[in-house]
Amino acid sequence: RQAAAVTASRYVFDELTWGNDETHHVAQGYDADILLRWGDPITADAPEFDVMNQTAEAQLQQFGYNNDYVGFWPLNDAGTRAVLCVNHEYTNEEVMFPGLGRQDKAGFAGMTPELVDLEMAAHGGSVVEIAKGEDGKWTLVKDSKLNRRISPLNTEMTIDGPAAGHPRMQTNADPTGELVVGTLNNCAGGMTPWGTYLMAEENFHGYFWTDTLDADGKPDLSAQPEAASLKRYGAPGLWYNWGQHHDRFNIDKEPNEVNRFGWIVEVDPMNPAAKPVKHTALGRFRHEGAETTVSQDGHLVIYSGDDNRFDYLYKYVSTGTVSDDRAANSALLSDGTLYVARFDDDGSITWMPLIHGTGPLTAENGFASQADVLIDTRLAADALGATPMDRPEDVQPRGDGTAFVMLTNNTRRKPDQINAANPRPDSSFGHIIEIKEADGDHAADTGTWSILVKCGDPKLADVGAQWNPATSENGWFGSPDNAAIDADGRLWISTDQGSNWGKTGKSDGLYALETEGALRGHSQLFFRCPVGGEMCGPYFSQDGETLFVAVQHPGTDGTTDIKGFARASTFEDPATRWPDFDPAMPPRPSVVVITRQGGGKIAS
Ligand code: FEO
Ligand code: CA
Ligand code: CA
Ligand code: CA
Repeated sequence: RQAAAVTASRYVFDELTWGNDETHHVAQGYDADILLRWGDPITADAPEFDVMNQTAEAQLQQFGYNNDYVGFWPLNDAGTRAVLCVNHEYTNEEVMFPGLGRQDKAGFAGMTPELVDLEMAAHGGSVVEIAKGEDGKWTLVKDSKLNRRISPLNTEMTIDGPAAGHPRMQTNADPTGELVVGTLNNCAGGMTPWGTYLMAEENFHGYFWTDTLDADGKPDLSAQPEAASLKRYGAPGLWYNWGQHHDRFNIDKEPNEVNRFGWIVEVDPMNPAAKPVKHTALGRFRHEGAETTVSQDGHLVIYSGDDNRFDYLYKYVSTGTVSDDRAANSALLSDGTLYVARFDDDGSITWMPLIHGTGPLTAENGFASQADVLIDTRLAADALGATPMDRPEDVQPRGDGTAFVMLTNNTRRKPDQINAANPRPDSSFGHIIEIKEADGDHAADTGTWSILVKCGDPKLADVGAQWNPATSENGWFGSPDNAAIDADGRLWISTDQGSNWGKTGKSDGLYALETEGALRGHSQLFFRCPVGGEMCGPYFSQDGETLFVAVQHPGTDGTTDIKGFARASTFEDPATRWPDFDPAMPPRPSVVVITRQGGGKIAS
């Protein structure tokens, strides 16, 4: 490691060595303890996890699968009790269920109604109370009244905002268009300044089904009245066959159910009886996350990327301002302006409002009302000429009017499609953009942008990476996904290389990325995942002494391309059995809590 550079870094820790093996690793001097695993009982009367006899009923009282976003909110002044809010994005049948390899999933041959309900029960979110003991270690408070599961199987939610009740939101089960069961594919998220939990609905299209296929086995939408909208959202995606068992996920039988997903959901972790709310004012797209901040004059601002190749970056600004009245604050998510970003080559950014009746957003162009603008946010943003990006993932605002945008990769961008904000064709490794809003105000409708790093191996000229030259061979990464700002305003990045694992040979991990001064663009590895696991979270406690990270789908991603693990993982033969290493247990997605040995702030 570069001793001189690291001494000058604002992050004080000894960088981890890169690699790839069956377990997780954290920088020396830190503990990384397993806090919550898939299947862990989280309510007072929840049954113990029985992996060979899983049921939907049990799963609804146990920690769900594929933990992604982690939000933390203290419950007392001492910071020793807190609520943890965790998204469960999706399921990996091949390592969850015995006898169901990936081949079976492709044809859904082994998917019974019971397994479909079990998958649904493993999706959604968990809200749990945790407590910090005398030893400084966090543990689950299993009998807390706050603990609950949220799932697409049985959690009723209300719909509010301009699209609520619109005919396109009405179904046979809900003629009001204001009540929906569940949430889908909750990737990243956010915590509001008053401690509610935002769950972003990302790849919802994959859960919708049709029996009407063309000669290539692709959905035939010719008889669908909303074909243009469906096509723009990639629905139905046929990733899961829930629509063969639940009519609402089959667009032939229930064409409007799909319009009721792709939103931001607000959950009040302090009130387990309160129904979650889908806030349509924030738009409908494949929301990666929903990180919040407050503008100089008190408006709530929420940044959200649409994670799709060539899709857009959005920002929502509330009409009202944040106050000490918790109940009143939630109305800020019902009334506001949604903007989409245009990145110009001169380094300026313009936030264009999506308001019905202005510019091209009129009835003659297919937008009869603000409800249409929001249900078809992508089509409205197309009409405004937003800049197609390299898959916008998490967007992390900092209080000073800065926001960091993770652009994870886009191998479909052709040389004639590059621009200054998306500068590489066939980008396997992605880049990070730093936005500076005008006058440091997150509510501004203009600002400037610059590229913080271009990811990938700096030693390979054809990769075209851009890092601070002090970055070591351990510190560079590919495919930035989630991000967090710690108590000192420093940036942390987690990676999700997906099928690109083999191109770096590195496991996914968590990196400390300098944004200021001479070391701007200098990255250091702090934590790495077990093989095939994707790094999610991260979230720092307000005192900076605890860091929560989530290891998603250990043992799956890219394992066929990795030396020493060159095989597809199955329940019977996974690439790792992290974190239990019990021959009777498959790998389990888990939340990991990182603390400094002897106490103190992380990386300080
Ligand atoms: Fe679920 Fe955009 O990652
Ligand atoms: Ca993500
Ligand atoms: Ca984040
Ligand atoms: Ca991801």
